[in-house]
Amino acid sequence: MSELEKSRLRVRQGGKLLYKVCVISKTVLTVLIVAQAILTVAVLYSPQASVFIGDRLNNNFLFKILVTFAGLQSMEPKYQAAIGCTVIFISYVVIFAILKMFAGIMKFLAEGERPFDVQTARHIRHNSFWLLLFFVYNPLLGITSFSITLLFSYIMEYGAYIQERADETNRIQEEIIMSFAEITENKSGQTGQHIKRVSEYSRVLAKQLGLAEDKVELIRIASTMHDVGKLMIPPEILEKPGKLTDEEYAIIKTHTTMGGQLLYNVEGEEMKESRTIAMQHHERYDGKGYPTGLAGEDISLEGRIVAVADVYDALTSRRSYKNAWSEKDAYDEIIKGRGSQFDPKVVDAFAAAHDKILEVRDKYKD
Ligand SMILES: [Fe+2]
Ligand SMILES: [Fe+2]
Repeated sequence: MSELEKSRLRVRQGGKLLYKVCVISKTVLTVLIVAQAILTVAVLYSPQASVFIGDRLNNNFLFKILVTFAGLQSMEPKYQAAIGCTVIFISYVVIFAILKMFAGIMKFLAEGERPFDVQTARHIRHNSFWLLLFFVYNPLLGITSFSITLLFSYIMEYGAYIQERADETNRIQEEIIMSFAEITENKSGQTGQHIKRVSEYSRVLAKQLGLAEDKVELIRIASTMHDVGKLMIPPEILEKPGKLTDEEYAIIKTHTTMGGQLLYNVEGEEMKESRTIAMQHHERYDGKGYPTGLAGEDISLEGRIVAVADVYDALTSRRSYKNAWSEKDAYDEIIKGRGSQFDPKVVDAFAAAHDKILEVRDKYKD
């Protein structure tokens, strides 16, 4: 799991926990609201309740201020008690409303696709002023909760802008990658949808292997550039009908290192991932591949995934020098390469997700 995915998960877990706390508090508060409503009516009709509540309220400093400033001294004690109870009732309702707002925010953090959102940040900021109502009970509580919530809303808004910029950078990288992929496709004499299919097969395999969502997406995009090095191979060799000479085949093989060189100085996660895939998609699990003969887990997982996707598509597609294999023969060939040409885990994922592979094949057929 990538660091980005881990931190998103932490935000989700925190949001989920606080959402539960809000829900429990709301339930407790609902009971208190009902009890307070009953008590408010009870003080009017029960002298014992009136005396009991009256004694308690008379010890309350804030209630004394309320009675003095509102001129309630001349009022019958039971009405004074009822007003006191009503004020408490209203304050419970206000706290309930604040909790409801917080529960909504926590739910958004727990379930939202993105933890930061400008609209939500503004919503929190506007509602944070309600927290000043706590000032009546405890000035320190009021000011502290208001300040923290206000600051949280600014941090969330800032996070949302940073997120937007990061998305934009990724979009630009993706556009560059797609342009490169299209140029490669046009120049390399490959069948029309090869790049699209390899990228979608790679996505299916990565997902089946249980990789995190953002890693799956990264492999999907980066794998479109797996053959970018073919731009550097003379077209008469790439498009040659019939069998290649040993010398020509050796030149074709250099498209891996050429791809690596083309992307040598690139910055950005997606471009670096593209470079790894361009370099390693012809390596074999048993070390007999090219260009460097890496073996087993020394080949990156993305390289091992794209190797299966690329070979499967090459087998099932018609090329200038061969006809397309039948689905069964191509499937058997991949299974046959388990542990020799291909990573056993990736082949197992291929077999398990074969129905999805067929869907992609059908959707992007030439
Ligand atoms: Fe290739
Ligand atoms: Fe390819």
